[in-house]
Amino acid sequence: MADKDDLKEGKNFHTHVPQTNKPFFLKGAGSLDWGMQNRLSQIFNPITGRTVMLAFDHGYFQGPTTGIERIDISIAPLIPYADVLMCTRGALRTVIPSDTKKPIVLRCSGGQSILKELSNETIAVDIEDTLRLNASAMAAQVYIGAEYEHKSISNIVKLIDTGLRYGIPTLAVTGVGAEMDRDLRYFSLATRMCAEIGAHYIKSYYFEPGFEKVVAACPVPIVIAGGKKLSEIDALEMAYKAIDQGAAGVDMGRNIFQSDHPIAMIQAVNAVVHKNEGFKQAFQLYEEIRARSATIN
Ligand code: 5RP
Repeated sequence: MADKDDLKEGKNFHTHVPQTNKPFFLKGAGSLDWGMQNRLSQIFNPITGRTVMLAFDHGYFQGPTTGIERIDISIAPLIPYADVLMCTRGALRTVIPSDTKKPIVLRCSGGQSILKELSNETIAVDIEDTLRLNASAMAAQVYIGAEYEHKSISNIVKLIDTGLRYGIPTLAVTGVGAEMDRDLRYFSLATRMCAEIGAHYIKSYYFEPGFEKVVAACPVPIVIAGGKKLSEIDALEMAYKAIDQGAAGVDMGRNIFQSDHPIAMIQAVNAVVHKNEGFKQAFQLYEEIRARSATIN
């Protein structure tokens, strides 16, 4: 029972100190509710405003992709170095330790395979399961200009609407059809459309020239996918250029888990993203970590 006799009058009201009203750090997220902002600040580092997302959701349409045939073996050692894990609920439940402190961006679209038209996706996770899994955001592909453009847009609209109800942000992933040019015209259209539809951040590919214009015209943060495996130095250069031109981080898969040394690569990517490291210095870091681990082993 409350001890009413011991009630003391408050004294420290700091009546001359106005309450601080700190603006939220993330582009385009200033007017979101507390839960949304809190989840976004788990994804994006509030100090750098950036993120290193480790993507290993490829199996949802292409099966056991090189490098992630065994997620328990190849991804588990990388978890400490990632800011965020992007994966399917199947991978999460079966092989990702549930005591991880890393925020999860859940792949919430699916329904097609690499053998068929990729844009023919549907929403593949219910909001209740997203909440049950304690995900920090939901992700789905948006295929602008592809055969099922309209369907993929309605998927993202539904995710955004349900997410808004529960304070879960949505990541729109620009899925580029085989016949599309990866250029300024395409990505400015796709990313801007996703933002205007209400996505809270967008995954795009890096391209040149003009990437900085896509970033400028997009009112929410853009992170880049890694795409096909490049040499380590080329992948670091791509990440460097994207960050230099305004990207808020990477959502990288194959260029990390297919690297000759994934642990060294993710740390080198982290240095580019969070420490503004040049790509040559980051590559040197990659080589150093790799050499050190060869000596230990
Ligand atoms: C698959 C995805 C992947 O998460 C995305 O492509 C990132 O992986 P990578 O860096 O290997 O391209 O959205 O549809």
